[in-house]
Amino acid sequence: MPTTTTTSPFWLGTSWKMTKTLAQAGDYADELRSAALAERVPPELRLFVLPATTTLAAVRERLGVVPQVFVGAQNAYPGPEGAVTGEVSMGMVRDAGARMVEIGHAERRTLLGETDELVAAKVAAAVSAGLIPLVCVGETAAERERGSTASVIAGQVHAALGGLGRLAPVELLVAYEPHWAIGAQGRAAAPDDVAEGLAAVRQVLDDELPDVHTGVLYGGSVDAGNAAGLAGGLAVEGLFVGRAAWTASGLLEIAHRCADAVRARSTTDQAIVRKDR
Ligand code: PGA
Repeated sequence: MPTTTTTSPFWLGTSWKMTKTLAQAGDYADELRSAALAERVPPELRLFVLPATTTLAAVRERLGVVPQVFVGAQNAYPGPEGAVTGEVSMGMVRDAGARMVEIGHAERRTLLGETDELVAAKVAAAVSAGLIPLVCVGETAAERERGSTASVIAGQVHAALGGLGRLAPVELLVAYEPHWAIGAQGRAAAPDDVAEGLAAVRQVLDDELPDVHTGVLYGGSVDAGNAAGLAGGLAVEGLFVGRAAWTASGLLEIAHRCADAVRARSTTDQAIVRKDR
């Protein structure tokens, strides 16, 4: 059964959602590039930034070649290029510089009616286009109150993989983002709730994609104050941040908090291994 190893990079990324002009996006990319070139991005981390579609290509261009930082899209359409007004294809976002694509965020599921079927079609299309899917799953407050958190999450992950058929992703990420934890009205999940959600995701991934390199992330009101506590959870393979990383300095501050927690965690892991011998 695949487990987290201390050598796997810890994912830390942000979706800018519907924010930023070209000038603002360019400034953020410049700041991140300078930090990476000055080795101010901790080596344990793999960062990703998901700009709006209008600024994606500019961010890719301004970042230049910084292997530790991936750029991705927040969404793309699952079908081939052609007559679909207002959409962009997986191939188009890849052409604009995306290496990954976010799929099924709670805001899209609730505001735009994105269904499990559409999520599944997008995951398959992303893999076909050579993009890493970042699938978002999570329960609503009402589902949590009913005690169906784990089954809702497992159902969403299972559904998201349903279009893959014989397609084998090289890498696939799932972010557990409870709806009640996201945004200005949200509150970050407690470490026990995070562990429960991630375990539900991990179980489905290990059962259904045992040979694929997968990562499970937590998202929802992550900030510099709680990042270390969340990153310290043994099952947490990354954090997905919204508002608190909408400045490059915000992202970098969270990066340092995560790196400290990941380093402390690997010391604990080694101590456990030594004790087990
Ligand atoms: P937030 O957003 O950090 O602003 O709560 C998280 C997300 O939607 O991924």
